Amino acid sequence: MTDFFVMKPGETAAPLPPGPVLCAGSADMRRIHRFFLWAYEEAPGLVRSVKPGDTARSAEVGDVLSNFDKGLLVHHEGEDLLMYPTLAERAPACALHVEQMLQQHRQVAELVDALEPLRTRWIETADAGVGGELAHTYEDLSTVLQTHLRREVTEVMPAVDRVLTEAELTKVGQHGIDTLDRKLLLSYLGMILAANPEGERKELFVQMPLPVRILYRVVGRRMYRRRYADLFPGRPIPAAL
Ligand SMILES: [Fe+2]
Repeated sequence: MTDFFVMKPGETAAPLPPGPVLCAGSADMRRIHRFFLWAYEEAPGLVRSVKPGDTARSAEVGDVLSNFDKGLLVHHEGEDLLMYPTLAERAPACALHVEQMLQQHRQVAELVDALEPLRTRWIETADAGVGGELAHTYEDLSTVLQTHLRREVTEVMPAVDRVLTEAELTKVGQHGIDTLDRKLLLSYLGMILAANPEGERKELFVQMPLPVRILYRVVGRRMYRRRYADLFPGRPIPAAL
């Protein structure tokens, strides 16, 4: 499998601050970004899989999509509050890259804002026209994310690895865990794990709070399998943990 996180011609990474690597930010970011890349690649097809007027399914799919959006915004919020200000302060030479990433976050937020009212109307009506517009807007968001989620890893995270301590990096991830409802996190954990290569799932899993890990083994894995089967009928269910 080729690595998605590679720089393209013409792209330049932020200058590396001197000093040793202090945290494993690049690795952590890759793992969570793989989930969002997968989710938004699937989103347009999920919308189109709902037959006009089938409001039971539009409600089910719409709820999942709204949780993807919530997770994405919270992920960016954690970075905006706890990662980029520290990077800008400790590595002033990265200012241009910081501004580019924050600008991409704003672009994502605008698209998510545009999705919200469309999705609400579509959930209520499963109207074909609204669904078409919704699917199209999710395609636009996916396109923006294919660039942003890749470039944040390739251009910015190597610098972050050298300015944030492991404890500070943990706080960035913790922001998401604390902000999102634990039950919600539990019910999507299987998808997050499944989006990652086998070797990295365990490393991601151990970063989850212990109660979430225990509950995943008891109920979360089943929730994942059931939800996947409902969303993608007939597809084999990808391995999680
Ligand atoms: Fe990120």
